[in-house]
Amino acid sequence: MAQRVSKRKRPSREKHMLKEQLVIEEGVFDNRTMLRIEKLFSHKIISRLGFLIAKGKEGDVYLADSGSAVKEDYVAVKIFRIETSKFFSRTEYMIGDPRFPKIKREIFWIVNEWCKKEYGNLKIADYAKVHAPKPYYFNGNVIAMEFIGSNGRVAPQLKNVVLEDPRKVFNTIITDVKRLYDNELVHADMSEYNILMRDGVPYIIDFGQAVVTQHPNAVEFLRRDVRNIVNHFNKKYGLGIDEEETYAKITA
Ligand SMILES: Nc1ncnc2c1ncn2[C@@H]1O[C@H](COP(=O)(O)OP(=O)(O)O)[C@@H](O)[C@H]1O
Ligand SMILES: [Mg+2]
Repeated sequence: MAQRVSKRKRPSREKHMLKEQLVIEEGVFDNRTMLRIEKLFSHKIISRLGFLIAKGKEGDVYLADSGSAVKEDYVAVKIFRIETSKFFSRTEYMIGDPRFPKIKREIFWIVNEWCKKEYGNLKIADYAKVHAPKPYYFNGNVIAMEFIGSNGRVAPQLKNVVLEDPRKVFNTIITDVKRLYDNELVHADMSEYNILMRDGVPYIIDFGQAVVTQHPNAVEFLRRDVRNIVNHFNKKYGLGIDEEETYAKITA
């Protein structure tokens, strides 16, 4: 994929280029993160890192122009902030997931594993043909994925739109939740905030918390996901959807 340049020559030249390509204030990223962003350039995933789309609880999402390895025009780059101690509380979504037989109480480890988990979950969603961002690349605390938006503008969250055909959108979401479940994944943070509407189609985002169905709390998480979605559609559109029936459909 990426052209190999001798390791000795790379840093100074690429660092210089990187400075020009980064349209953000200096000092935002630590050195480790900078090196990982550099990899996005050298692997031709992005050609320019643009503005901040969203400042999240523990990570930020940036819009980037794609590199030649990506056929779409834009890429979303999610960068987890290493310094945040909030990550320790996230181990609830790791303990019990067989993908994490050992949990370390070490912040770098947790952040990287969390990021790897989000990337792995996006791969499962992609495999399951769920409407979700396609994962492109992952390194440490940095994930590059499909940008959900049009013409460089982020698609709005489900909570901020008024749907013409809410039942159709609801059905698409539930079909996707079922597809995830059939592939042994429960999102565990489903809400009108983590669904983006692009061209009338709902895209599920934010897969960091998703757990495999063997997780001891998977049933509880799935019930909460279903409740959040059903409540949103019932409150906003008065669809009168039954939570139990929806849950049964997903787990059938
Ligand atoms: N793939 C994406 N394409 C476009 N925008 C995105 C994408 N991923 C995240 N965003 C934007 O960033 C915001 C925060 O991302 P999210 O993954 O939900 O992180 P958080 O854990 O902070 O909630 C989203 O609400 C959305 O506006
Ligand atoms: Mg979110």
